[in-house]
Amino acid sequence: MPRDFRGYEEPEDWLSFDEIERVVSAFVRLGTSRIRITGGEPLLRRNLAGLSARLSRLDGMKDLSLSTNATQLARHAAALKTAGVNRLNVSLDSLCAERMSKITRRDVLPSILEGLLAAKQQGFSLIKINMVVMSGVNEDEIDGMVAFCREHGFILRLIEVMPMGESGRNSGFVDLQPIRQRLKIRHQLVDGLIPGGGPASYLTSPDGKFSIGFITPISRHFCATCNRVRLSVNGTLFLCLGHEHKFEIRPLLRSGISDAELEDAICGAIELKPERHEIREKPGKLIRVMSASGG
Ligand SMILES: C[S@@+](CC[C@H](N)C(=O)[O-])C[C@H]1O[C@@H](n2cnc3c(N)ncnc32)[C@H](O)[C@@H]1O
Repeated sequence: MPRDFRGYEEPEDWLSFDEIERVVSAFVRLGTSRIRITGGEPLLRRNLAGLSARLSRLDGMKDLSLSTNATQLARHAAALKTAGVNRLNVSLDSLCAERMSKITRRDVLPSILEGLLAAKQQGFSLIKINMVVMSGVNEDEIDGMVAFCREHGFILRLIEVMPMGESGRNSGFVDLQPIRQRLKIRHQLVDGLIPGGGPASYLTSPDGKFSIGFITPISRHFCATCNRVRLSVNGTLFLCLGHEHKFEIRPLLRSGISDAELEDAICGAIELKPERHEIREKPGKLIRVMSASGG
């Protein structure tokens, strides 16, 4: 390494932890109490547990969660728990190593399973498994995934694929409504509610010990109750997964804006949130990929 090497620097346009904390604090003062750290892959950011600790300590923050592909989770699980992350969402589309390699283009299943078991040992209050259901890819694994989640006490969430990016567009869409009906009858489930306040509609076993969530942006969209906005690593606030409506926060932060002005700017940006997405009517309109939006 060069003599004056002082460690790898993060790109200048990434929000620093100070800047992220400042934006999140403003949201929390305005009444937001649930934050989810997502990506891209959040565990690739150096010292993510340090950021998590700063966010979880904010006065008014009730629920800090993290979405991850879990490939690095085994070595971060303990630090994340200590930092105050209370829930995890883990992407797992298949329990077949070969299929996971095909889907992710990496041999990832062993490290994901290791990460999941480490997280389970840490006692996170909830661990949700996100399975994007794709025809001809993993549709036949739903029952296996139900059994896996039941065995480990994970909450399964089945997700309809959105036409985002090349892989999203080329994956076969599966309508989850008939699958919901089938699972409801087969496992004698009733309508339920799970912490997170998100878009999933849940079915739960009568003893409350097992739940399946259905995220159906295509067959039954949930825009009317969508309370999400997404802040990208470089400070763009995206108001809807399915539209380009956005607001740039980074220039404001770096121009010395006051906290009150920041709060006003955020309130103004929220007004830009569109009434509903048009993914079904205009699938080609989605130009951002999921990894650049934060699923
Ligand atoms: C984009 S990932 C980001 C966080 C993290 N890297 C992960 O793997 O969970 C968040 C969620 O979006 C889901 N997802 C990705 N592409 C999708 C698509 N085209 N349609 C629906 N869900 C998608 C993933 O399965 C994952 O559960």
